[in-house]
Amino acid sequence: MITSHLLRKKFLEFFQSKKHAIVPSASLIPENDPTVLFTTAGMHPLVPFLMGEKHPGGSRLTNVQKCIRTQDIDEVGDERHDTFFEMMGNWSLGDYFKKEAIEWSWEFLTSKNYLGLDPKMLAVSVFAGDADAPRDEESAKIWKSLGVLEERIAYLPKKNNWWGPAGQTGPCGPDTEIFFWKGKESNLPSPKSNPGNDEERWLEIWNDVFMQYNKSKEGKYELLKQKNVDTGMGLERTLMVLNRYEDVFQIDTFWPLILLIQQISGHLYEGQETRRSMRIIADHLRTATMILGDDKGIVPSNVDQGYIVRRLIRRAIRHGRLLGINANFCSSIADGVISIFRDVYPEVERNRAFVLSEMEKEETKFRSTLEQGMKEFEKLLKGFQMAWEKSGTKISLISGKQAFKLYDTYGFPLEITEELAKEKSLSVDKAGFDEAFKAHQALSRVGAEQKFAGGLADHSEIVTKYHTATHLLHAALIKVLGLNATQRGSNITHERLRFDFAHMQKTTPEEIQEIEKIVNTAIEKDYPIVCEEMTLDEAKKRGAIGLFGHKYGEKIKVYTVGHPGEVPFSSEVCGGPHVSHTKLLGHFKIVKEEAVSAGVRRIKAILT
Ligand code: ALA
Repeated sequence: MITSHLLRKKFLEFFQSKKHAIVPSASLIPENDPTVLFTTAGMHPLVPFLMGEKHPGGSRLTNVQKCIRTQDIDEVGDERHDTFFEMMGNWSLGDYFKKEAIEWSWEFLTSKNYLGLDPKMLAVSVFAGDADAPRDEESAKIWKSLGVLEERIAYLPKKNNWWGPAGQTGPCGPDTEIFFWKGKESNLPSPKSNPGNDEERWLEIWNDVFMQYNKSKEGKYELLKQKNVDTGMGLERTLMVLNRYEDVFQIDTFWPLILLIQQISGHLYEGQETRRSMRIIADHLRTATMILGDDKGIVPSNVDQGYIVRRLIRRAIRHGRLLGINANFCSSIADGVISIFRDVYPEVERNRAFVLSEMEKEETKFRSTLEQGMKEFEKLLKGFQMAWEKSGTKISLISGKQAFKLYDTYGFPLEITEELAKEKSLSVDKAGFDEAFKAHQALSRVGAEQKFAGGLADHSEIVTKYHTATHLLHAALIKVLGLNATQRGSNITHERLRFDFAHMQKTTPEEIQEIEKIVNTAIEKDYPIVCEEMTLDEAKKRGAIGLFGHKYGEKIKVYTVGHPGEVPFSSEVCGGPHVSHTKLLGHFKIVKEEAVSAGVRRIKAILT
């Protein structure tokens, strides 16, 4: 058996031996990026460097990035879909290109010192070419030089063999993908089979993207300043094929959770429906735990990331109920998730108490209305039945109002109602639900979904201003409330900044006034903002804040706000970008101060 620990280690060591710097996973919550809720690929946090900015780790990097994709959330429950996943990657930032990328992928996959896969079980695809970029004969030639047969190379269009941009605009390019044969070892692929003509039987395990284009707002593909390589190898899928498991839930970052669910429910992992529910529980609570445990203080709520967490937890509870679990169990599963990942992502251990208490709170809250909600749903069904019997009217649609009542009064996220409806061959009027939702002046869930599907932020001017204002606020909070008032989370939109920080009590009106005054004075002084790279030690010496999550040896960027030669107003570790002078910010005003959870407060502020 090859374990997740061994696979991550082998991957990072291999690329380290090819002179790549190992960089830690970035947060699952993109910082200062209002258009996307989660990090969906390794490239997300690296966009500035793909665009040409110098990375402190150099031009060759390797990492294992925590990612979340929820587009396929409804598919979870089959053999291979999941919402949280780890992506192993190697990066060339204007350094090597196709030849090395392909040769190293092949070496890692087939060399006995690494994965030792049989080349007969592998096939590849390359970009077929179109008006935007040429057919990738170069990659095909490199594959052939390594012994890959012509018949195993599929030439496929943009739909298959192009990656990015992560949002509407940004770095992207043609890719070459590597596939593993899904059949049994004794059952070799037929001579002409490849991922183009025999799609079902080949599973993609690795993607080498040649990011040399920037997709512009007008939809044009312009050459980037530099040619990059972005590769992504999904840890879960790779473990599944290496171990020849039939489903991804048997890998060691899932299986202990399935065992726990077996114990709690008293059911074996057998039978299609039971398996489906167990997989949904394992997947959803794994993802919810990773979000809650991500140092950003996200809590279940009705908006943005918090809403995704809520949906995940509530859906897991409903599937628990299908397995006969009627007492709280989510925090036990979360505890299992933390044990699985604590050595790899130390933040989940650091936030253990927070994660468990938030899980417990959310579950208790939902359970208190779940039974009544189910009764309400059954009442609806009875009503439909009666209409059918009385007047022969067949109702097969749950109205928006009815779905909204289940949401608003009983806490059923829309997809729970939809799932329940589907089981009874009914559907839900989604548009009607949205209308009812908006009528209640709640923040639109659809908005959150769109954001989720959307892409990276343009680092537009106003977002950059709020970003700098956040640094000023952070420094002012520490000056007024003390050294403990450090960041727990940050989120910026075009309209406002939101900042969560550690503090035990409500901030008084006098303190708020004082904080505003300090920030506005700093703006008036028109401090320049300077970015410098340094080691962790140097940053500590300077008194920089925002140091968590960094490792010794790593070079980090520190943004300093202050006049040269004076004690700086603020020094903070950050990826940027920032405005060049504070006066550009205008006037700073705090519009709200509230509690987020025990010991965490939230400020919303605007620039006018
Ligand atoms: N960014 C590429 C992917 O996610 C590697 O497939």
